[in-house]
Amino acid sequence: MNNLLKGKKGIIFGALDDKSIAWKVAEECVENGAKIILTNAPTALRLGSINDLAKKCNSQVITADATSLEDLENLISKSLKIFNGKIDFILHSIGMSVNVRKKRSYTDLNYDYLMKGIDVSAISFHKLLQTSMKLDAINKWGSILALSYIAAQRTFPSYNDMAENKAFLESIARSFGYHFGVKNKVRINTISQSPTITTAGSGVEGFDTFFEYSEKMSPLGNASAKDCAKFCVALFSDYTKMVTMQNLYHDGGFSNTGISEEIIKKLK
Ligand SMILES: NC(=O)c1ccc[n+]([C@@H]2O[C@H](COP(=O)([O-])OP(=O)(O)OC[C@H]3O[C@@H](n4cnc5c(N)ncnc54)[C@H](O)[C@@H]3O)[C@@H](O)[C@H]2O)c1
Repeated sequence: MNNLLKGKKGIIFGALDDKSIAWKVAEECVENGAKIILTNAPTALRLGSINDLAKKCNSQVITADATSLEDLENLISKSLKIFNGKIDFILHSIGMSVNVRKKRSYTDLNYDYLMKGIDVSAISFHKLLQTSMKLDAINKWGSILALSYIAAQRTFPSYNDMAENKAFLESIARSFGYHFGVKNKVRINTISQSPTITTAGSGVEGFDTFFEYSEKMSPLGNASAKDCAKFCVALFSDYTKMVTMQNLYHDGGFSNTGISEEIIKKLK
């Protein structure tokens, strides 16, 4: 235990089950001395096992659909009361594409599905930031993170319209990062994580191949959910106070590798 987050208070979105990246982040934050509140959509509370995590982390669960401003306001104001003070960090770990779920191909998108997916995966981040700013809920030098994927920059055909969702999400981090930085010295970043075996990850067609390819391409191999959690703790801590408006690759070197010897061997 490093106690990097001793005395800090945060909200973690998106822990569904023990495979979720957010689950590992919650555990790591608590191990590092933070107090946390967990939140997820009502359906996730029914289907997942967030209450087990809450027990383990000695934390409360507040239901919120991240696309609902009313739910977000309720979540933030209740958290301020429970913490008896402002919030130091937030993790947005939410992603969903109805087109991916319903196996609509990128060249045959349903636009109602597209709008729903972008609301859940990207606009929800803006809604969360705007609500937090309006309620003056974040401490000076607070840190807010969202999880992204490199399909925002490069084409991965089966990632479908999630690519646009992630590009939008990363842009919100930059744009809002400016305003929250100037106003309250709050920092906002996205982490571009390696493929990780979770419910959302495995929903992408051909995910196993994705995962294996990326493992062989990355000099350090794929970054695990546990490693991602440690990176989040570092970014929530006071050791990264001047990092903001960035999309930070946490991918074992994948993003800067053209081809690896392992892939050449496999294709020969
Ligand atoms: N798994 C991967 O390969 C991978 C790689 C890079 C980035 N990510 C990103 O990491 C984040 C977390 O995903 P994960 O892989 O841990 O999968 P996960 O399925 O465990 O988590 C996704 C979460 O989003 C929540 N969610 C969906 N709709 C919501 C709504 N309306 N309101 C509130 N919450 C809602 C779900 O309940 C779930 O807890 C996502 O943003 C995902 O895109 C995942």
